Formats: sequence, C-alpha cells, structure tokens
Amino acid sequence: MLQSAQRNEYPGEFLRYRVEIAPSVLAADFGRLADQIRAVERGGASIIHLDVMDGHFVPNITIGPPVVAALRKATSLRLDCHLMISDPDRYIEDFRRAGADMISVHQEACMHLDRTLAYIRSCGALAGAVINPATPAETLREVLECVDYILVMSVNPGFGGQEFIPRTLEKVRRLARWREEHGYAYRLEIDGGVDASNIAEVVRAGIDMVVAGSSVFHTQDPAVAVELLLQRAESAIMIQI
Ligand code: DX5
Ligand code: ZN
Repeated sequence: MLQSAQRNEYPGEFLRYRVEIAPSVLAADFGRLADQIRAVERGGASIIHLDVMDGHFVPNITIGPPVVAALRKATSLRLDCHLMISDPDRYIEDFRRAGADMISVHQEACMHLDRTLAYIRSCGALAGAVINPATPAETLREVLECVDYILVMSVNPGFGGQEFIPRTLEKVRRLARWREEHGYAYRLEIDGGVDASNIAEVVRAGIDMVVAGSSVFHTQDPAVAVELLLQRAESAIMIQI
C-alpha cells in the first residue's frame, strides 16, 4: 500500500493539499489573465503567486495593487503577493486591501523584519519572509517563531524563466530540519526554475508550496501542467509500506 510520508501538519488555512502548487502569473498571458487562472484552478492549483517588482529592489517592474484587486474578483484561490520592493511597509496595507491573503517580504529589503512580519499579520494576512540565493537561512533564525511561511528563492529575483540553482535546496533542508527539531509552524515555499524534472527533489527537501511560472504557463495547457506537477510532487513523498 502507498501512504504519504509523515510530514509536519499545519493549521487550517493551508491544508488543502499536502504539497500546493502556486502558479506565478508573471509567465501568464496578461491579455487573458482570468482565463489563465481558471485553467490552473482546474488543474488543482490552490494558490496564485503574484510577483510585485519595483525596478529598484530588483531590475524589473511588474504589477501593483490594482491588478491584485482585479484578480481578487476573478478567483477565490489564495493570492500570494511576493513583494520584491524596497521599503515594503509602505505598501503592505494596500496589497492586503486589494485582496492579498499571503504577503511575503525580502529579508534583504527589511531594516526591521520582525516589525514588518508582525505588521503583515496585524493586517490579517499570512506573513512570509523571503531569502535570496546568497542570503543564509541563519538570517531568519530570530523570526522563525513569528513567520507563517518562508520563501526560499531558487533563482535571483527579477525575472521568470531562469535556471534553478540546486544548492538552494541545502537551505530548504536546514529550514525543514529546524522546523522539525523545534516544532515551528512555518511552511516552506520555493520560487524559481521549478518544473516537472526537479519538483520531486524539491518536495523531498521539505517544500510545501511550489511556485511555478514558465513550467505552467509556457505550455500548451496550463491545467495539465499543474496536474503533472502535483502528481510528481505527491508521488515523490509517497512511501512504500
Ligand atoms: C522571480 C519570481 C518568480 C518567477 C518564477 O523573481 O519571483 O515567481 O515568476 O518563474 P519561473 O517558474 O519561470 O522561474
Ligand atoms: Zn515570486
């Protein structure tokens, strides 16, 4: 018989799938976003990942609260706003009001990360901390108790379609180990270069939420692409008993 491997269980809101796929709309066709979201929903996606870039913290500019508000009307899936912006505190409330359920900020962009995470929670969203490939997991040690999720960047932020950096998985394993050793409740998310060929290794390292842009939207059928990722993820954490 096959049974899912024992993993930490997390409170309510997050638990629809053991591993969740969060398609990143950065790779979608912006001319028909609502359609594209319906497609990934059909495929089993449970989170929509929204990349917010300011042309300052990262060398690219993308979307702001009005687009988040429009998407809020188009889907009931959780909206996960990944803020790649300097001084994120200035905009957190705007994104929450626009409909973000999850808001993550970069450790590298926050002078007072503990305060920023508490602020996100006080606005009623789940609070995420993000680390770039060059940022050690240790920089989050003091906030592990007060963060809802940690997003490990597996590419340097700014663009979709980049190649996965394998050594970032070592950080994921460390964060998963700390979680187990100390009973922390944070979930682990990964972002950048994940596709059907590496998702098994990613979830085995301890990832619960997988962001996928090109491998979902740059395909013939985004619904089928999400299904495939979910299947690969689920079978990677099955064990034979
Ligand atoms: C990169 C963004 C990612 C990106 C992922 O800065 O944070 O969310 O869209 O895209 P893929 O899956 O194509 O690497
Ligand atoms: Zn992202």
